[in-house]
Amino acid sequence: MSESEAAEGDSRPRGREVWIEKYRPQTLDDVFGQEHIVERLESYIAKDDLPHLLFAGPAGVGKTTCATAIAKEVYGDEWRENFLELNASDERGIDVVRDRIKNFARVSFGGFDYRVIFLDEADALTSDAQSALRRTMEQFSNNTRFILSCNYSSQIIDPIQSRCAVFRFAPLSDDAVEDQIRAIAANEGIEVTDDGVDALVYAAAGDMRKAINGLQAASTTGDTVDEEAVYAITSTARPETVQEMVRKALDGDFTAARSQLDTLITEEGIAGGDIIDQLHRSVWEFGLADREAVRVMDRIGEADYRITVGANEQVQLEALLASLALEPEE
Ligand SMILES: Nc1ncnc2c1ncn2[C@@H]1O[C@H](COP(=O)(O)OP(=O)(O)O)[C@@H](O)[C@H]1O
Ligand SMILES: [Mg+2]
Repeated sequence: MSESEAAEGDSRPRGREVWIEKYRPQTLDDVFGQEHIVERLESYIAKDDLPHLLFAGPAGVGKTTCATAIAKEVYGDEWRENFLELNASDERGIDVVRDRIKNFARVSFGGFDYRVIFLDEADALTSDAQSALRRTMEQFSNNTRFILSCNYSSQIIDPIQSRCAVFRFAPLSDDAVEDQIRAIAANEGIEVTDDGVDALVYAAAGDMRKAINGLQAASTTGDTVDEEAVYAITSTARPETVQEMVRKALDGDFTAARSQLDTLITEEGIAGGDIIDQLHRSVWEFGLADREAVRVMDRIGEADYRITVGANEQVQLEALLASLALEPEE
């Protein structure tokens, strides 16, 4: 093999490179959506006045990306030495977290006033562990800034919240997800149909990681990424199928509704919890009468709660459909 062929060979298996990393924004400016957050973060950096930060929000919306982008902007090429990333749910207990924080914060370093510690999934820590964390934050507050990330800020104890500037990350808009999907597809030379883009956007529900992973996975199974490929690869039910199932139940045909549910769960391998989520997201788009939509929503709430506390997903979904079928519209 000649050298140039080897080089090309090196770049080809790029298909195997993980696109969520390849396309992770390197600067705050490149982060999609989240404009208000980015603006405030940039002003902290410009004023060289970074407080402790708490990033709250769902998965795949840019929390980790913003934390690393801050480090890159503050430290430039030396960001790796000045930025420690920990995951609260990986580490075995708060003692390990505190030891690593202490070791990192103690090491003498030149040039910068402080280092940044990013603690992901901070809400995985018990409140006792969070109290210990709070003391550690105080102990090193002169030369360390913390960025904590969590799904729900309510899971973080007040004394930590009150020491942090809190940022709530929202799910990304469909437009933002679509723009990024199209940009990546163009850059990778992949053909994605319009319905394929729509399906990726729908399946992602504002989670950019899910959208990009879906695109990458779907692109390995064929030449063109279309709706079919996306729904198969992302284990997402077609919204029309979910709508039909609900319609049948509301029309009193429980048997038909149940068999549709069965197809989704056993043949298409979609998780019951994901069907509930999809129902929840789409129920207002099914064109149901208000009363029907309210009944469905009420049942979704019940099933969701029961599944959360450990009930069998399929049983709960069948019970949901049964209850819709039992009480037809007067
Ligand atoms: N706001 C965003 N703009 C552009 N890409 C994003 C954004 N949010 C997430 N991504 C993509 O999804 C991947 C995961 O994002 P990440 O910031 O790690 O999410 P999380 O909010 O779960 O920490 C990133 O590597 C990037 O490719
Ligand atoms: Mg993250």
